[in-house]
Amino acid sequence: MSVVTLESSLPFAPYRELGNENLCDRISQAKKKLGASLLILGHHYQQDEVIEHADLTGDSYQLSRLAADSSDCRYIVFCGVHFMAETADILANRPEKLDSRGGERVTVVLPDMAAGCSMADMAAIRQVESAWEQLGEVIDTSDLTPVTYINSAASLKAFCGKHGGIVCTSSNAKAVLEWSFRQRKRVFFFPDQHLGRNTALKMGITNDQMPVWNPHEDELGGNTTELIQASRVILWKGHCSVHQMFQATHVHQFREKIPGIKILVHPECPQEVNDIADISGSTSKIIETVKSAPEGTKWAIGTELHLVNRLKKQHPEQEIHFLSPLVCMCATMYRIDLSHLCWSLENIINGTIVNRIVVKEDVARWSLVALERMLTVR
Ligand code: 13P
Ligand code: SF4
Repeated sequence: MSVVTLESSLPFAPYRELGNENLCDRISQAKKKLGASLLILGHHYQQDEVIEHADLTGDSYQLSRLAADSSDCRYIVFCGVHFMAETADILANRPEKLDSRGGERVTVVLPDMAAGCSMADMAAIRQVESAWEQLGEVIDTSDLTPVTYINSAASLKAFCGKHGGIVCTSSNAKAVLEWSFRQRKRVFFFPDQHLGRNTALKMGITNDQMPVWNPHEDELGGNTTELIQASRVILWKGHCSVHQMFQATHVHQFREKIPGIKILVHPECPQEVNDIADISGSTSKIIETVKSAPEGTKWAIGTELHLVNRLKKQHPEQEIHFLSPLVCMCATMYRIDLSHLCWSLENIINGTIVNRIVVKEDVARWSLVALERMLTVR
């Protein structure tokens, strides 16, 4: 990752003082000036006021595809989190794309560098490498496919690329696990234990075949040799701090209070919630499910608050509730606001790119191997 903040870049502080109306006007003007050279991508968890300025929106898989397929743009401003911008940089600047543009790179900008993902931060490359080495002492790692959830640093994707592994998102995790089991007999899944477990359980794999690897334990991630040798999926001890707030009791309370209510959750929620939900899926699946439901359907939705509130506004014909009594919002996604968006766009116009995301060449090359495997899996 590298941050390019040139001496002459526009200072950020004054942007904080601007009101939303003013910021919206300036963003619209900047978009007009940059025309087709600019593509603003927005993840579904972004605030409404930011989403309104996005050219295209999607879940992590769709946003990767959009970056991979982008042709006219020279700047991608990513309203999402760091791993998403890294993925966009890798895909938009892969060798065939660079050749088609005569070597010109697409510049990827993350409006606020503090927009990370706490789950992605739960697996560092040196921990994954150490785990792989330790696993090699008790099982044959040529029988083990490493699978990284897209919510991870590019270095982990590169690790998967180098070791015959693959990337998955919440929308293709089952297809990716099936692909992995066609290659080898076991899977090492990081960093989200819940997505890994929920997906594997649906494929008939049982919890006793899924030991959890705790990177903070010295010996075999806190497991015995026998547990690792009996494993089919080794899960990393990582989670999303937003989705782990949803509990089975919330589901029971809604079902008691509102008979007939449907429970719709993201697969990053813990197993106890996923097992009893009516439907589980990526942010796009959640949106599509609500969109296509008949008028009067009642929902309790377990995913990030901004998306649920937007669905409530867009579908007054349905009754939509937030599954938790607590406020579960992604504080890092929320870092992207109108002032950061406006500041980054005006800096592009000014010729002083700020918060540029560039993945190191070697890491990008190997990450691409794992990402391309993912993009071909159906
Ligand atoms: P989706 O790929 O379902 O949009 O999920 C991204 C994410 O970070 C969920 O927490
Ligand atoms: Fe990461 Fe969770 Fe935020 Fe998604 S909702 S970006 S997994 S912290």
